[in-house]
Amino acid sequence: LIEQKVEALLKQMTLDEKIGQMSQIRHFEENADAHVSEKFIGSIIHTQGPTPGKTAKEWQKRFIELQKKALATRLGIPLLFGVDAVHGQNTFEGATIFPHNIGLGAANNEDLVYEIAKITALESQATGFNWVFSPCVAIPYNEKWGRVYEAFSESTNITEKLTKASVKGHQGNLADATTVMATAKHFVGDGATDFGVEGGETTLSDDEIHKYLLPPYKAAVQEKVGAVMASFNSINGISMHNHKALITDTLKIGMKFDGIVVSDWKAYSRFNGIEVVNAGVDVIMAVDGDLEDFQEGLKKAVQEKLVSIDRIDDAVRRILRQKFRLGLFENPFPDTTLVSKIGIKKHREIAKQAVRESLVLLKNENQVLPISKETKKIVVVGEHANNSGLQSGGWTVNWQGSLENYKEATTILEGIKKQSKGTLVYDKNASENHFDADLAIIVVGENPYAEFFGDIGHESNQLKLTLTEEHQNYIKKYSDKGIKTIVVLISGRPLVVTDQINQSNAFVVAWLPGSEGDGIAEVLFGDYNFKGKLPHSWPKDVKDFEHKYGPNFWDKTQNPLYEFGFGMTYE
Ligand code: IFM
Repeated sequence: LIEQKVEALLKQMTLDEKIGQMSQIRHFEENADAHVSEKFIGSIIHTQGPTPGKTAKEWQKRFIELQKKALATRLGIPLLFGVDAVHGQNTFEGATIFPHNIGLGAANNEDLVYEIAKITALESQATGFNWVFSPCVAIPYNEKWGRVYEAFSESTNITEKLTKASVKGHQGNLADATTVMATAKHFVGDGATDFGVEGGETTLSDDEIHKYLLPPYKAAVQEKVGAVMASFNSINGISMHNHKALITDTLKIGMKFDGIVVSDWKAYSRFNGIEVVNAGVDVIMAVDGDLEDFQEGLKKAVQEKLVSIDRIDDAVRRILRQKFRLGLFENPFPDTTLVSKIGIKKHREIAKQAVRESLVLLKNENQVLPISKETKKIVVVGEHANNSGLQSGGWTVNWQGSLENYKEATTILEGIKKQSKGTLVYDKNASENHFDADLAIIVVGENPYAEFFGDIGHESNQLKLTLTEEHQNYIKKYSDKGIKTIVVLISGRPLVVTDQINQSNAFVVAWLPGSEGDGIAEVLFGDYNFKGKLPHSWPKDVKDFEHKYGPNFWDKTQNPLYEFGFGMTYE
């Protein structure tokens, strides 16, 4: 039935209207309203950053306004509203923020991933979105890549399994008021570039691509994922946005993917826009700056037979098909009553469970963990213990994350306060030297970053994958004094922390936990056991990264400090 509706609508469309459907613009660009009305725009992207501080209600209102404009056009085709809800509905404060995917890879619990995706979908709909650019199903080969934390694991099997759960959770039967269209990204080879360069060159054989990188996409397609996003990297010299063999032949024809291939950010100006469409990309993301160029250029290319009308029809069919599947023609507006469900206790409890299950215990000398609640004096060190912005990482409220506390989250320090019955002091920079303490909990790690900032880095440490000297010294100072030292690492990827592990009595990897910092304290004090297992092999030395790839479990030439899958428990 849907296919008939698609064909009937397609027949009525002019070339301008078809090209309009392929255009995606930002909702806050100057002429957004006029473009929706006059240029037949098919979808809207919300990017994080330029307008933080808005509430869900305000976003909803804006999107309803734009949807009304789309419905008032000649054919009244409703808009898609897409967002990077990559670890919860992370565009404004007060939503539930889950651990980034790397933590979910450590937890390796498909039921949990399903629940998280369901909640993310609901909170996204409550904000007016019907499309999320998630999950990232990359297989990272090198920890220098700035997006390692957005992916579940270096294991294709784990990624495949959790991808299925994520797509299922987000999409449900798609037409519900609380579900959204998901996007498997970035097709393909994003995390496997040489030396981990974002948007770099991936030099793998066809066999390796099929064996390691494509299975999560197959899994997503089996679950009827609505969209796949093309990647910025090249594969063996061909940019993925121009890679017809992989996009059209492998994904669309070979895997029978009938959804939308969306480009990454401003692909029109970054690559040859006409070739991008010919390769099989259906929707051009954030094309607002080049809208006229794109629309006129593509029209001319069709008239000159440089792009076939079949290719345009294929793109538009896919877009309309998803709009029908989402039920947008019957219910184009979000359910405004859902706003009251954002960040509710039930959702945050699931997020806390995810935090607890994601923690990986690497070392526990003389069973210093679990911490006795009766410990007389505990000193907590490091800003990462007291800042929910730092613990949430990139893609939280802002694109690059936040250096400030995130409203309605709990920090690790707050969690420890709830647990400890003795004296508790906080020593932000290890400057007060509480050397009379019985125990030091030292929380160190990376500052938030997103995309390329992770590898070209503002700080040289990000390139070396080591802690800053300051953070290294926190640990050294307390351990040199013979204080029992527990280190909690907040990071988006494995770091080279061999010396720090040696200096500490216990070492816990907490990844980027999100809004529920107290989940960490609950495990440290023994209310719950450790469950997480390393989703990546753990590097030993900065020299590990002089190679094309970091240590991976399939590459036996490099010995990791901890093998993939390692993780201790209290028993
Ligand atoms: O979805 C993202 C993608 O992962 C990276 N580039 C920008 C897109 C939209 O924000």
